[in-house]
Amino acid sequence: MNVSPTQENLAKGATAVPPPATVNRPENAVPRNLRRYLSLEDFEPAAKRVLPRMLYGYISGGAETDASVRDNKQAYQEYGLVPRVLMDVSGRDTSTTLLGKRYAAPFGIPPLGSAALCAYRGDIVLTRAAAAMSVPMILSAASLIKLEDVKRENPDAWYQAYLAGDDVRVEAMVDRVAAAGYDTFVVTADVPVPPNRENNIRNGFQVPLAITPQVAWDVATHPRWLFGNFVRTVMNHGMPHFENMDAAQGPPVLSKELMRNIGKRDQLAWKHVELIRRRWKGKLIVKGLLAPEDARTARECGADGVIVSNHGGRQLDGAVSALRTLPEIAAQANGMTVIVDGGIRRGTDILKALALGADFVFIGRPFLYAAVVGGEAGVTRALTLLRAEIDRDMALLGIRTLDEITSDMVHSIR
Ligand SMILES: Cc1cc2nc3c(=O)[nH]c(=O)nc-3n(C[C@H](O)[C@H](O)[C@H](O)COP(=O)(O)O)c2cc1C
Repeated sequence: MNVSPTQENLAKGATAVPPPATVNRPENAVPRNLRRYLSLEDFEPAAKRVLPRMLYGYISGGAETDASVRDNKQAYQEYGLVPRVLMDVSGRDTSTTLLGKRYAAPFGIPPLGSAALCAYRGDIVLTRAAAAMSVPMILSAASLIKLEDVKRENPDAWYQAYLAGDDVRVEAMVDRVAAAGYDTFVVTADVPVPPNRENNIRNGFQVPLAITPQVAWDVATHPRWLFGNFVRTVMNHGMPHFENMDAAQGPPVLSKELMRNIGKRDQLAWKHVELIRRRWKGKLIVKGLLAPEDARTARECGADGVIVSNHGGRQLDGAVSALRTLPEIAAQANGMTVIVDGGIRRGTDILKALALGADFVFIGRPFLYAAVVGGEAGVTRALTLLRAEIDRDMALLGIRTLDEITSDMVHSIR
């Protein structure tokens, strides 16, 4: 009998994923206003028109010279794909297993702080679209909707922490996330101090927001965002707060108290990862490392996985693209899950990352832009486009399942 890859996966006991029909969704099933978006990159110019300048700058920008933002995309251009032909690629399956769960595609949505300031109910629309497509979504510590509420919308959501090097606060946060029923805890490791994002300073953007004449003008000249998001949020849900930074509620986004509670972040160390490992029963991921030595230490501390990342180029300017150290990290993973992010925009980028040793990837900015222009339907459109790209690219590469990707399918073209 000719068993399709999907049937094989189900036979192995994995949970079902949406049928491939969603990949080739007819165009007329897509809301008319979203049909013009044909790739992930198409959402950015449309979101730029909606967002106040300070928020567009906050999402798109990196630190200092944006060297790492540029390198994140450049790194993928330095590899080409080497397809195999006449392989009978019918019955393809884009699904994959990550940390014991079967997902519909090898990509997910990473933590995106202040998402609900950018798009109406941003964290909710991102998480609902991810749940419907059966891909993972990570809720940011810097989010504005209670992690308990997000969990109700998506029982599969992960939580990402920004932690201070303070045992008492670390333990209280871990306990809150566990009590809410999350099963994957991500510690972001690359933020010992706030980054130097000059574009935010030039645009008058600070968190919590302060209403200066520059900010007032910026907001007033973007009425779709002002009324469609900010005023609507305040009327329906009250002034948003940083809900998930600590065990207790943080300050409101609009605040005279201009400093968030970020003290002691520069004291965070591997001993805190060990502390979390002892207390947290679920999966533990360390996000934001680039050095193979750090990946090894994460494994020794008991992490189930790492997200190799330079934070979308938003922390240390000049930090190498994650793709550049990925092969070395993957080679010595010894069973630990290796995820990569930064600059990935196409199905072909994802296949390159998998061929270079990644188990999975995350993609940030485009999904937030999609939420800005189209809410949940916009994010669904973006997720569906990307999954369709992967399905098509797998056929053109000559594979039926993602397990068939090998390192000889990429070639350095530098
Ligand atoms: C607007 C924005 C907010 C972000 N907030 C967080 C955050 O709260 N926590 C975190 O670990 N990473 C955060 N990141 C980094 C992303 O999780 C991810 O590493 C990055 O966006 C990947 O790069 P890409 O946008 O080029 O795909 C943020 C990125 C953006 C663009």
